[in-house]
Parts: sequence; C-alpha cells; structure tokens
Amino acid sequence: MRGRFITFEGGEGTGKSTHAATLAARLKALGIGVHLTREPGGSVGAEIIRHVLLSGVAKPLGPEAEAILFAAARDDHLNFAIRPALKRGAWVVCDRFADSTRVYQGVAGNVDLRTIAALERIVVGDTRPDLTFILDVPAEQAMQRAAERRGKGGADRFENEALHFHEKLRDGFLMLAASEAERCVLIDATASKEDVAAQIWRAVEERFHPATAPVLLDNTGS
Ligand code: TYD
Repeated sequence: MRGRFITFEGGEGTGKSTHAATLAARLKALGIGVHLTREPGGSVGAEIIRHVLLSGVAKPLGPEAEAILFAAARDDHLNFAIRPALKRGAWVVCDRFADSTRVYQGVAGNVDLRTIAALERIVVGDTRPDLTFILDVPAEQAMQRAAERRGKGGADRFENEALHFHEKLRDGFLMLAASEAERCVLIDATASKEDVAAQIWRAVEERFHPATAPVLLDNTGS
C-alpha cells in the first residue's frame, strides 16, 4: 500500500522543521517507515538547485523563473525520493512542498496562478499530499523568530524580503487553508511547542490511525 504523504507549510520562523521532525519521530516510534525530507532539496539534483535559489543568484531572473526552478527541484525530489518512498510503503513527511510555490511565487511574487497551476500539473501530477499542516504565526513575530534562529548568520533570499512580503505570505497561506479545508489543517503556531505538536498528532491520528498501520522497518531520510 502507498504510504501517506504529509507536508508542512507556512512562512519563515513558524517552526515547520521542528514539527516535521517531531512527527517523523513519533511515527517511527510506532514502527512505521518514514522518509523525512524538505524542499527545496531532498535529492541530489534538487540540492544543487536549492543552492542556486537560496543564494539569491536566480533573483534577477524574476519570480517566474524562480517558480520554474523550484518546480525543477521538485521534479527531481519527487522522482528520486518521494515517489520511491511512497511506493515502498513509507510515509513521507516533507518540510514545504508545492503550496510554498503557490504562496511565495504566486501570491507574494505575483506570478500568474495559471503558470503555477500548470507547473504543478506537470511536476506533481497525482502525487499530491494527503494532509498539509499550515503553521500560522503573525508575520512580525515569525520574522523575529527567524532572525533569532539565524543568529549571526546572513539572511537567505526570502528572509531578506520586507515585512509586507511576509504579510502577503501569511494571507496566502490562510487563504489556502480556507480554500482546501479537506487537505489542510491550520495550526496556531504561537501556542507552545508541546501544544502545537499535540494538535498535529491528534490530526494525524484522526485521519490515518497510525497505531494500526503496517510495520515497515525501513527508516530512511534525514
Ligand atoms: P529554508 O532554509 O528551507 O527555510 P524555511 O525554514 O523557511 O523552510 O528555505 C526555503 C526558502 O525557500 C523559504 O524562504 C521559502 C522558499 N520557497 C519558495 O519560495 N518556494 C518554494 O516552492 C519552496 C519549496 C520554498
């Protein structure tokens, strides 16, 4: 049986990576095979494109070209990591996926939504997430959290954008959660880490009953 495909989405500094890792650990503890991964990246080819995108060297090409590059990275990631994992029955937990392109390049970057939808159709096809958590934090607070996390290191391509951009991102993610309420679960990520993790686990239990999933001792991924 195909594994479950769960994604985490939201703006900068919303805690996606922490909660993706926490969920993966809880699933593994039940004996479920889990592939924990992230975008952009998650496969050899996609990691190369990640560097091009996050260093900012592709920024002069414009948001449409960036959307195409994110889609190219996703294509490699799907073909060499996500689809093979799902096929062998592992659950894939992914920190960001196609919704990030819809919101960062589409809503905030003003790329025509038909272009974004076409890329998604070509690249993602039927491999859509079964469940998506949208972690929501007010833009100002999220930017502050991202800056604290970074410490003295420099901000990347998207962290460098102004508050207005981050507010657009937040609105975009809230709109997405409302428009795809079946797939998306909106989480108030200003709550404590334990509380957020508990909300996430409850949603996974309700939908997929992981305690009764077939045991697959094949844990790969970071
Ligand atoms: P990353 O360092 O992984 O940060 P985060 O913890 O915020 O996920 O950087 C990924 C950056 O790339 C982030 O700023 C969001 C952006 N991004 C897009 O703009 N479009 C996309 O399709 C994806 C996957 C990410």
